[in-house]
Amino acid sequence: MAIPEPVVIDPAGHDIHAEGARIRANGPVARIELPGGVLGWSITDHETARQALTDHRLSKDPRQHWTAFAEGRIGEDFPLIGWVLMDNLTTRYGADHTRLRRLTAGAFTPRRVEAMRAEVEKAVDELLDELDRCEPGEVLDLKARFARPMPARVICDLFGVPAEDRAQMLRGGEANIDTTLTPEESAANVEQWHREMQEFVEAKRRSPGDDLTSDLVQAQEEDGSRLNDSELVGTLHLLLATGTEPVMNLLANATRALLTHPDQLALLRSGAVSWSDVIEETLRVEAPVAHLPFRFAVEDIEIGGVVIAKGDPVLINFAAVGRDRTVHGDSADAFDAARSDKEHLSFGHGVYRCIGMPLARMEAEIALAALFRRFPDIELTVPEMDLAPQVTFIMNGVQTLPVRLTPRNR
Ligand code: HEM
Repeated sequence: MAIPEPVVIDPAGHDIHAEGARIRANGPVARIELPGGVLGWSITDHETARQALTDHRLSKDPRQHWTAFAEGRIGEDFPLIGWVLMDNLTTRYGADHTRLRRLTAGAFTPRRVEAMRAEVEKAVDELLDELDRCEPGEVLDLKARFARPMPARVICDLFGVPAEDRAQMLRGGEANIDTTLTPEESAANVEQWHREMQEFVEAKRRSPGDDLTSDLVQAQEEDGSRLNDSELVGTLHLLLATGTEPVMNLLANATRALLTHPDQLALLRSGAVSWSDVIEETLRVEAPVAHLPFRFAVEDIEIGGVVIAKGDPVLINFAAVGRDRTVHGDSADAFDAARSDKEHLSFGHGVYRCIGMPLARMEAEIALAALFRRFPDIELTVPEMDLAPQVTFIMNGVQTLPVRLTPRNR
């Protein structure tokens, strides 16, 4: 049987779900062409993805296991080069990954996450108070005013960033994912952001606090060989990125789903479904991390009916996996918080599974419940089809979420 032509990935992510369906039509593991003309594989099937996520023959370390990169065929101009060059646990393999993951997860203890509850509630309340000061009838972008700043504040609390330095640190992170910057602007931002993060770490070294950064610095000083400076800064960059962008998308996607499905909102209000049901269903049907680079075959691997050659890149298509009809039936594409099969892999699975999962779930539950409690009349001001998707195929969210609220204090 002829091997289907690779599906060419749309770098602007105009319709990631339609793209996922096209890839799936070619098989559970199918060829794709990434921006820059790089060929790879995408896994869209739930069971195959679960297997792949626990298969030690799939590495995340491009330096060791991406043949084209090791041979110098992937240049600085590869559009996804940032995903290849980053120095943190997501580009490590085997014992090296275990070492970095243990250190990061160790500073991310359940005690610290639970201690964040009050901070999350405070961040949510303050932002909702600001929304409450809007004019009656005013249209505001809920993503910019709530979904984006809420997790950003929480991460800054977790890191122990002083109030006066927060805006600068977050600006660096936002510019880092801005795909409209020129390569020069982007490089200048990365350099400046890196320098600022190093200065921040130095300040924590001089004057530690009860925060995650100080824990990582201490772990480094207990045994200098365990976490070098580049890894420490890389880990903070990773947590800043992972702790903000997907949580923002989860909040925006869940709000959008409820505002465009009044029947589901009614189920929630009647108590027939819980906030946890809404959050898990949103994670399933609108996976915030949609199509994640990169894994690499350590050897030839037979999986999902194909052979992935040693050194080939592999992406897990979490957005498509959540809509697998073999698991979720014909209604797989529909948002239904009452369904019993909300099973998903949107936080990953296996040794690379999301470290921030409990924090993300806690943030979403507190933020969404407070938003709908404070503004029960919240409504979308444009038809759903006019909501433009984010310009990316890796993440899954909207560019803006225009809503109207009824301020309580007027
Ligand atoms: C709704 C929110 C979130 C989603 C959907 C999400 C999703 C994911 C996924 C799919 C992975 C696995 C990557 C892989 O298998 O290659 C991952 C890993 C990770 N996530 Fe999250 N994440 C979220 C929130 C967070 C938060 C709040 C943090 C921390 C502040 C965080 C920190 C991490 C880290 C450190 C890893 C890397 C784990 C490793 O490589 O061992 N995430 N996340």
